[in-house]
Amino acid sequence: MNQEPPSDSSNSMESIEREFPKLLHHPFDLSLDEWKDSLAEGGISLKEFTSIKKIRPDSKSLNIIIVDGDSSDGDEIRALDEVCGEEIPAAIVLVETPGNGARRDEDSSSLLAGFVPKPIATEPFQISIRAAFRQTAYRLAAHREENHRTIISRNLENLTQIGIALSAEQNNHRLLDMILTRSRELTNADAGSLYLVEETPEGERSLRFKHTQNDSKTIPFKEFVMPATKASISGYVAVTGESLNISDVYQIPKGVEYGFNQSFDQSVGYRSMSMLVVPMTDHKNEITGVLQLINAKQSPDILLPDPASADKNVIPFDPAIQQIIQSLASQAAVALENSMLLESIEQTFEGFVKASVHAIEQRDPITSGHSERVTDLTCGLAEAVSKIKTGRYADVEYTEEQMKELRYAGLLHDFGKIGVRESVLVKANKLYPLELEVVKNRFATIKRSIQSEYQEKMIHLALGGNKDKVKTLQAELEQRLEETGNLIDLVLRSDIPSMMPEGEFDELLKLGEFTYTDIDGTEHPYLTQYELNCLTIQRGNLTESEFSEIQSHVSHSYNFVVQIPWIKELRGIPEIAYGHHEKLNGEGYPRKLHEEEIVLQARMMCVCDIFDALTASDRPYKKAAPLEKAIQILKFEVKDNHLCPELVDIFIKDKVYQVVEAFADQEYEEPEPKS
Ligand SMILES: [Fe+2]
Ligand SMILES: [Fe+2]
Repeated sequence: MNQEPPSDSSNSMESIEREFPKLLHHPFDLSLDEWKDSLAEGGISLKEFTSIKKIRPDSKSLNIIIVDGDSSDGDEIRALDEVCGEEIPAAIVLVETPGNGARRDEDSSSLLAGFVPKPIATEPFQISIRAAFRQTAYRLAAHREENHRTIISRNLENLTQIGIALSAEQNNHRLLDMILTRSRELTNADAGSLYLVEETPEGERSLRFKHTQNDSKTIPFKEFVMPATKASISGYVAVTGESLNISDVYQIPKGVEYGFNQSFDQSVGYRSMSMLVVPMTDHKNEITGVLQLINAKQSPDILLPDPASADKNVIPFDPAIQQIIQSLASQAAVALENSMLLESIEQTFEGFVKASVHAIEQRDPITSGHSERVTDLTCGLAEAVSKIKTGRYADVEYTEEQMKELRYAGLLHDFGKIGVRESVLVKANKLYPLELEVVKNRFATIKRSIQSEYQEKMIHLALGGNKDKVKTLQAELEQRLEETGNLIDLVLRSDIPSMMPEGEFDELLKLGEFTYTDIDGTEHPYLTQYELNCLTIQRGNLTESEFSEIQSHVSHSYNFVVQIPWIKELRGIPEIAYGHHEKLNGEGYPRKLHEEEIVLQARMMCVCDIFDALTASDRPYKKAAPLEKAIQILKFEVKDNHLCPELVDIFIKDKVYQVVEAFADQEYEEPEPKS
C-alpha cells in the first residue's frame, strides 16, 4: 500500500504489519518448499540468497533473514547489522544443529530474533518466523516513535517563530507566500500550493487556487476556481477536514473517493509523487483553505527537473511532520483570516473615501477624476523618489504604510471643496448666468426707455408739422440705440475671463457712471457697483471673496480629515493634505509656509496637483495644456520658487506623468534651445 493512514496510529506495530509487505530471505540450499503455501497465506514472500554478503534487504518491506548457523560465523552475521542500518526493518532467525552454537556467540547481531533447531520442524519454525516479523514491526514502530518525538521537539520552536512571523504579516499576498515557504522549509517539500475556500450566498463551496511554489520548475501562475468535491485530493481535504499523507499520488489505492489528475504534471514535465495535504481551519473550526505540499526530499538542495529525478529522490512525508504542518496550517488560517479582515476593512474604507470624493467631484464635473489622478501621480513620484539613491533625496525611502498614507492624503486632499458653494466651484465667467441675464434685461429696458423718450418728442414735433426736426431726432435715436448696443457688447466681452483689450477697462469704468430713468422716473445706474467690480476683474473670473472661498477648501479638507481617528501609521494624512497649495517661497495658502515647513509628501503633491490642473480636460475658461506646455509651466513654477526643482526633475526624468492614462504612451522631449 502506498497510502499511509492519516493519523498517529501509523506508528503502531499493528499498522506497520498491515502497511509493510513481509519478505523472508533464505539460503538457496535451505528449501522451504514444505511451508511455501502456509507462508504465502501469511502474506510472506520468499527470496533466496547464495551468500550472506549478497543479501539485499528491502527498505519498504519487513525483512526476516534465515541464516544457517552451522555454516556462518559471527562476523558474517554481524555484518548484516551494517547492511540494514537503522532504516531497514529486519531481523535474523538462525537455523542450526543443536549444540553447534560454538561457531557464534549470542551477541553476534542486534538483529538476532530467534533460533530454529535442525532438522526444522513446522511448529517451532512458524512460531519463530511469526515472532521475528512481530519483533521487526515492533522495532520499526519504536524507531518511528523516536523519530516522531525528535521531529516534533526539534520543530516546536520553529513553529512558535513561524506563528509570530505569520501574525505580524498584514499583506495578504506576502502572507500566502510565507505560509508556503515556511511549510516547505519544514518538510523539504519541492513544491506546494495553497487553495482558499469560497462560498456562494447559496452555500455552494469552491476552491480558489491562490498561490504556488515549485523549486524545480518555473510554472506561470494563474488563479482558477474548482469545485470543492471529494473527487480531487484538495477538494477531499476541504470537504472532510481530514489530512492526507500520500506516498505516491500515481498509486492511489482503488476504492478511495479522491483521485489525482496527472494532466498538469504531463504538461510541464513534472512528476508529483509524495503529497501532504492538510486543511486550514480558522478560529471557528471552519475550513477556510487547503495547504498542499508536494514531493518531500532528503534535502532542499535536491532538484526534481524530470520524472526520473523524482523517482530517485522523493521520499514520503514523515507522519510526525504532518502534525507540525497541521498546526502551522491552523496558525496560518487565523493569520490569513486577520489579514483578509484587515484588507476588507481597508477596501471598505477606501471605497467609502472614493465614493465621497466622487460625490464631491460630481458637484464640479470639470474636475472629475482629479483626486484619483493626483493620488496616482503623487504615489508615482514618491516611488520614483524612493528608488533614487543619489542627490538631495537619496535617503528617502517610503515604506508600504507611508505609501498608503500618501494615497489617502491624495484621495482626500480636495475633500474640503464640500465647504465651497457649488456656484462658485463651477463659475465659468465673471458674472453668474442669472446676473448676466439681469444685465441684459436692464439694457433692453434702457433701449426701450430711450426709444419711448424719443418717440414722445417726435410725435410732439410731428403734430407741430416740424418734419426736419423729427428726422434729426430719428437719426439721434438710432445713434443712441447703436451706442447702447455697443455698451452691452462691451459688457458681454468683459464677462469672459481673458485679457481685456487696451482701453476697454477705462470704458467699463466710464459705463459705471451712466444712468437711465425708468417709467416711474427713478434714476438707475447702467451697472451696479457689484457688477462693475466683477466685470473689471483683471485675472481669472473670481472676485476676491470668491477666490478666498475657493482657497478655504484646503482648511476644510484639513478640518475634516483631522477628525478621522487614523491609526498611528496614517497620522500624517491631515498634514500632507493641508500643505498641497503651499509654495516654497511662502506665497502659497492657507498658512503661507516656507519650504522647510512643508512636509515632503505635500511638496510632491503640489507638483502633481498643478500638473493635473494644467492638463485635465478642457475647462470653459482654460484649454487643457499638452504635456510639453504643462512641463514648461512646472519649470516656470520652479524658477518662481514655488515648486521643488529636484522633485520636478524626478517627475520629468522618471516619466511619472505616464501614470495618467492620457499620457501613458507620451514622452516629454526637452525643446531645442532657441539660438
Ligand atoms: Fe486643492
Ligand atoms: Fe487638487
